[in-house]
Amino acid sequence: PGATLSAAKLSIEKTTSPKTKIAPEKLVFGHTFTDHMLQVKWDATDGWLDPKIVPYQNLSLDPATCVFHYAFECFEGMKAYRDAEGKVRMFRPDKNMERMKKTAARICLPTFDTDELVKLIGKLVALDSNWIPSSRGYSLYLRPTMIGTQASLGVGPPSSALLYVIMSPVGPYYPTGFKAVRLEATDYAIRAWPGGVGDKKLGANYAPGILPQRMAASRGFQQNLWLFGEEGYVTEVGTMNAFFVFQNGAKKELVTAPIDGTILEGVTRDSILALARERLDPAEWDISERKFTIKEVADRAKAGTLLEAFGSGTAAVVSPIKEIDWHGEAIHVPLQDGKETGVIAETMADWMAEIQYGQKEHPWSYVI
Ligand code: COI
Repeated sequence: PGATLSAAKLSIEKTTSPKTKIAPEKLVFGHTFTDHMLQVKWDATDGWLDPKIVPYQNLSLDPATCVFHYAFECFEGMKAYRDAEGKVRMFRPDKNMERMKKTAARICLPTFDTDELVKLIGKLVALDSNWIPSSRGYSLYLRPTMIGTQASLGVGPPSSALLYVIMSPVGPYYPTGFKAVRLEATDYAIRAWPGGVGDKKLGANYAPGILPQRMAASRGFQQNLWLFGEEGYVTEVGTMNAFFVFQNGAKKELVTAPIDGTILEGVTRDSILALARERLDPAEWDISERKFTIKEVADRAKAGTLLEAFGSGTAAVVSPIKEIDWHGEAIHVPLQDGKETGVIAETMADWMAEIQYGQKEHPWSYVI
């Protein structure tokens, strides 16, 4: 009931005191925010109220607001890029908005017309486009967020919500070239399980991952390789999807876990699979979404048929892996000579960047 989300109803209040920008090379991921934000309120009676772009500002919320107590919060991560001609492009914003809609529905937050939200975000990006550094590797990280705002301790569907979008200029994830990471295969803590919400972009999925990450870090590993079940199925790495490359006789296999409810439906994951299916020679490659175990990875490392491993996500795009510790056993992942990445991770990073920065026209690149 009530009004639907409508980009035509947008009003814009521009800041009278633009912030001073810091030098691009000093940017730290997610620390700096642009001059403006998008805000849209919703309530159960009126539906979506008129969208507003306003100066970046604090929120004022009653301490009883349901987001603080029962975690009515979901978010997205996506990026806008400046191309060589100065045009601004968002990468697959429709995919992120579809996912956000599904995530919101799962926690009884309101859904919306995804095209309208893409248009609204486009207006915000256009207004603050002077915040996107023009050098290669730089982008604007967009953080669409939705929270339940009902001020009540009753446990039930929120009768009001706030959708907002903030934006943060970010530098290259690997300013000095790839750095392959060491992982601890983690089975004492479980990131996601069948019937759970690990496939949704809920804030509540992230806080519980920090303690295991710190434990792994205390033993010298940057991230967790999340396992599931007695079989030790490989699911994700840190906050990223996980890809492995195996040799099967004369053919190679690019493999990642299937979308079975325990895997985040990564936009980068989907893009890598699509590019691999489109561009890698099917006579030489199998592209698989299938379950595989840490034991298979360890056995293949011993047999010499583990060729590569990497994480995929919006923030880093790809993150090469060089070693996995599994109950004290070191699984070594090959890298190219003199490089901190395998050839497929490097190729995927290049293919993605060509599209993101508009060097190759592609339907995934949305010019605003
Ligand atoms: C990713 O892009 O890999 C993420 O999951 C982003 C993170 C900041 C939540």
